[in-house]
Amino acid sequence: MSVNYSERIPNNVGLSENRRLQRALEAWQPNYMRWWQELGPEGALDYDVYLRTAISVETDGWANFGYVKMPDYRWGIFLATPEAGRAIAFGDHRGEPAWQEVPGEYRSALRRLIVTQGDTEPASVEQQRHLGRTCPSLYDLRNLFQINVEEGRHLWAMVYLLQAYFGRDGRAEADAMLERHSGDPDKPRILGAFNEPTPHWLAYFLFTYFTDRDGKYQLASLAESGFDPLARTCQFMLTEEAHHMFVGETGVMRIIQRTCEVMRELRTDDPERLRAAGVIDLPMLQRFMHFHYSVSLDLFGQELSTNGATYFTTGLKGRYHETRIADDHRLTNATWPVSVPQASTIVCEEQPALLAINERLRDDYIVDCRRGLNRWNKEIEKHGVDIVLTLPHRAFHRRIGVFAGVHVSPDGRIVTADDWAGQAQQWLPTQEDHAFVASLMQPVTASGQMASWIAPPWRGIHGRPIEYEYVKFH
Ligand SMILES: [Fe+2]
Ligand SMILES: [Fe+2]
Repeated sequence: MSVNYSERIPNNVGLSENRRLQRALEAWQPNYMRWWQELGPEGALDYDVYLRTAISVETDGWANFGYVKMPDYRWGIFLATPEAGRAIAFGDHRGEPAWQEVPGEYRSALRRLIVTQGDTEPASVEQQRHLGRTCPSLYDLRNLFQINVEEGRHLWAMVYLLQAYFGRDGRAEADAMLERHSGDPDKPRILGAFNEPTPHWLAYFLFTYFTDRDGKYQLASLAESGFDPLARTCQFMLTEEAHHMFVGETGVMRIIQRTCEVMRELRTDDPERLRAAGVIDLPMLQRFMHFHYSVSLDLFGQELSTNGATYFTTGLKGRYHETRIADDHRLTNATWPVSVPQASTIVCEEQPALLAINERLRDDYIVDCRRGLNRWNKEIEKHGVDIVLTLPHRAFHRRIGVFAGVHVSPDGRIVTADDWAGQAQQWLPTQEDHAFVASLMQPVTASGQMASWIAPPWRGIHGRPIEYEYVKFH
């Protein structure tokens, strides 16, 4: 279905045929706009930004480029095209037709899943709202704003489901999405990583690499849902999410490239000299990676989870690429290896695969994280620099699950509280690290210019040159 942009809310869900829903969403829209003005990108209401806007879900329609003022961005509701005769692929209902309405007995579980996902979307906009003030280039500023408007659209996607399928409760949940705020001590966002500040662009690139990637895995498993509208919403969100991770991976890559260039110029690996030259030394980058990776691992939840098992058995949330897995898709007798602390070591135990569904998703995520890491290491190697970046052990710096409260070094040794206290500043970003990175954050807004600490991208956006005026200020 094509999208009518003359409607107040662009959509491919036939909104004009459902007056009640249309009125509910139109009543929510001004609250959303107020939220965007108060907690969206700071000081940027007036900028003309070269943005991509989805105008249909067809391959040729979802990426339309042009200058837009962000508050005028058309936040629309798009579901991927329905798959005729789609059947539920897993759990007790495997083989039954996918649900077009919410099954009464799964109503509250489904609502909880949608609310938890939806809550992360505006949270990241709030976390990133000050970054526009210190952009390293117009190209990066544009990408930041692109991500922000798409996270806003992802909120719309979840709010549509709540309002369309959950009646009064759904409307209340939609309002609450705009009432919780990232880092608010009284009404925080639901998940821990979404209450952490994103104070500078290094944190932002690592957030988009590691934390948006958690989003990819959550969305991919919800895209398998037996509740068809949720599956179709998430499929379309995934196409937008890919760009967010691209921004993270290439952002970190460009930082590495710039640092390695300066290391070669100065013939040094001395962090002090590199910092004096205005670049981020690789050991410091490693500490920030440790942080962002570990808080993102927590987002997958407990290693063994009865909720996770229930979501799977009832057909609400599948595994990553569920339909491509060759097994019975019910996991009645299957097991899965799970790492747990045992006395002073970490051991691997076979656990019921149903209970370990979160852990399995975390495993898929870890494999995916390594891919970008390998590309970063190739870049370092290309410059002849003798440093290898690593992902810490999954048990390192965890606050959720069996390793919460256990002190584990990045290489996976259980250490004492004293050892931890003595070494934490080599493993995690220190106050000084943050202060140094903050000191680098001077805005660069001349076309084609880059901050000292980051290399230019390889190419611009949508065939435009790197020097293109991606954002016009007024
Ligand atoms: Fe998102
Ligand atoms: Fe995202």
